[in-house]
Amino acid sequence: MAEIRLQNVWKLFGKTIAVRDLTLTINDGEFLVLLGPSGCGKTTTLRCIAGLEVPDRGRIIIGNRDVTDLPPARRGIAMVFQSYAVFPHMTVFENIAFGLRVRKFSEAEIQKRVREAAELLQIEELLQRYPAQLSGGQRQRVAVARAIVMRPEVLLMDEPLSNLDALLRLHMRAELKRLHLEIKSTTVYVTHDQVEALSLGDRIAVMKDGQIIQCDVPEKVYAEPENMFVGSFIGSPPMNFLQGKVTMADRAVAVEMNGVRLTLPPGFEKLGERAGSQIIVGIRPENIEILREARENAIPAQVIVIEPIGFQRLLTLQALGATLKATTQADVTLAPGEQVWLRFDLQKIRMMDPKTGKAIPCRHPDG
Ligand SMILES: Nc1ncnc2c1ncn2[C@@H]1O[C@H](COP(=O)(O)OP(=O)(O)O)[C@@H](O)[C@H]1O
Ligand SMILES: [Mg+2]
Repeated sequence: MAEIRLQNVWKLFGKTIAVRDLTLTINDGEFLVLLGPSGCGKTTTLRCIAGLEVPDRGRIIIGNRDVTDLPPARRGIAMVFQSYAVFPHMTVFENIAFGLRVRKFSEAEIQKRVREAAELLQIEELLQRYPAQLSGGQRQRVAVARAIVMRPEVLLMDEPLSNLDALLRLHMRAELKRLHLEIKSTTVYVTHDQVEALSLGDRIAVMKDGQIIQCDVPEKVYAEPENMFVGSFIGSPPMNFLQGKVTMADRAVAVEMNGVRLTLPPGFEKLGERAGSQIIVGIRPENIEILREARENAIPAQVIVIEPIGFQRLLTLQALGATLKATTQADVTLAPGEQVWLRFDLQKIRMMDPKTGKAIPCRHPDG
């Protein structure tokens, strides 16, 4: 196993800056997810780790070796691509064995390793088949088996599930998680799917424009986004953002939004320093409670759309001159057009600076 360190890595394609001064340490045995929208530099970062791209600047260290100038074959890595290219003229067994044969492993070792990998991926009964005789999910397992059979210190995966249908993707996601617990290779996994990232990652590095915006455990990235981009990229539906102004009334800090005053509980004193300034209040849909009558500190709203989404309902609401999303239990009876009141879970709101889009430290517990 090995730790991976990227130190101030830059990669340009002509005038396009694909990776911009990226510094990141991936711990030994960790499952790290690189998450971000299309074109943000995920694949390029992964290819730099693999040695398929040479960074214009910066160093890449795997274990205690500086591999920046080493070819892919000497880096102790294996990679699974989005287009899981398997060789059509070879059986599954030979596909999995390919890398081992290239490196001149003994026949006995090849037999042992291929069977082990096939067992881990539950494709033992497919070893004599050809790729054309396999389903998409089975072919993807072969591609993963071909990577892990090398017992790499580092496993790199670039959107390996994106060619599978939704149900299979869900199944393979759990399989990859189980596999990682067994093989424990340091894993870097690229995806643009935030659900996949939350489900798989020990940590998630959220990327935008070639840079890492936030890197933390999934719970933190979800509950405490560093900025509005992370709050809206992660979570479905995304975090709601409301415009307001910080005010002080009787030494209590409040936010005034479209004429409605929301008084904040103790702990928000630091925000008082910004009295008179504009602010953005971020709140996730599940942290909004729907009330049938007015209460203190509750915000009047009108129900616009109600969507059943299985065990919950997704509400679109009009409040404070904006459109909000909230989730509620499926058994709550509501009708479009109905007047309701919203109670925000004030321990879970996130204050953002409208100028920078960044979270403002304003509470004692999280600084
Ligand atoms: N071989 C290449 N030649 C020119 N531009 C490239 C090449 N590879 C990637 N890019 C550009 O670099 C940026 C990052 O691409 P990429 O790393 O593939 O993003 P992602 O995997 O996050 O979608 C994009 O603007 C893309 O168009
Ligand atoms: Mg990509």
